[in-house]
Amino acid sequence: MSTTYVVTGVTRGIGWAFLENLSQNPENTVIALVRNKAGTEKRVVEELGSPKNVHVVEADLTNYASIEGRAKKVIALGSGLADTHLTAKYRLDLGSPYSMSKAALNMLVAKYHASYADQGVLFLSISPGLVDTGHQSQLTEEGMLNLQRMLASFAEYAPGFKMFTPEESVGYMMKVVADATVEKYGGTAVSHHGDDKWL
Ligand SMILES: NC(=O)c1ccc[n+]([C@@H]2O[C@H](COP(=O)([O-])OP(=O)(O)OC[C@H]3O[C@@H](n4cnc5c(N)ncnc54)[C@H](OP(=O)(O)O)[C@@H]3O)[C@@H](O)[C@H]2O)c1
Repeated sequence: MSTTYVVTGVTRGIGWAFLENLSQNPENTVIALVRNKAGTEKRVVEELGSPKNVHVVEADLTNYASIEGRAKKVIALGSGLADTHLTAKYRLDLGSPYSMSKAALNMLVAKYHASYADQGVLFLSISPGLVDTGHQSQLTEEGMLNLQRMLASFAEYAPGFKMFTPEESVGYMMKVVADATVEKYGGTAVSHHGDDKWL
């Protein structure tokens, strides 16, 4: 079945891995929403060989009206760091603004579900797991120490946990997306496993 995907944040990291994954199926049409159209088109040509099913669009998707009647699944990238129980139990005291923004995102997803579930539109927040998107190389010495402290907490929560490549993370998330219905996941926040196991 032919499916159209609208993906934001495709210039790098997890968004790029979604673009790569989805564009491999010629049945899919992928609309890539970006701020830097020329740069993204260049990367698509260089790394994906100009697939016919990818369309790079410079756009701002800010309201429901622009997807109404077309989108059936709206997926937001959340984070296990929005989990209040995890935060309290493992004393995750770092990155408060980030965690708060992801908690707010999860509530937004729940509110959209409350408003639009009757129209058959699924809104779901999926955490991608811990994914190496190159941010560690930009950390200061203090940032690196903080990261190590957080990773120690993660190891306590999930001994032997693994940091994913973007491709691995997207592989997991696509399985959750394929399986996702309004009834099963509508308005919830889940991990890349489709549950509350965040790592
Ligand atoms: N990496 C992880 O371990 C991890 C874990 C949990 C959750 N997440 C979530 O997963 C998502 C992607 O993570 P990532 O690591 O792939 O991030 P990333 O490498 O920093 O990429 C972020 C992408 O978002 C775009 N973007 C940022 N601000 C934007 C704005 N105001 N308007 C339009 N586009 C904007 C960037 O485009 P430009 O190139 O134009 O800046 C870029 O394509 C994020 O929401 C992150 O919080 C990541």
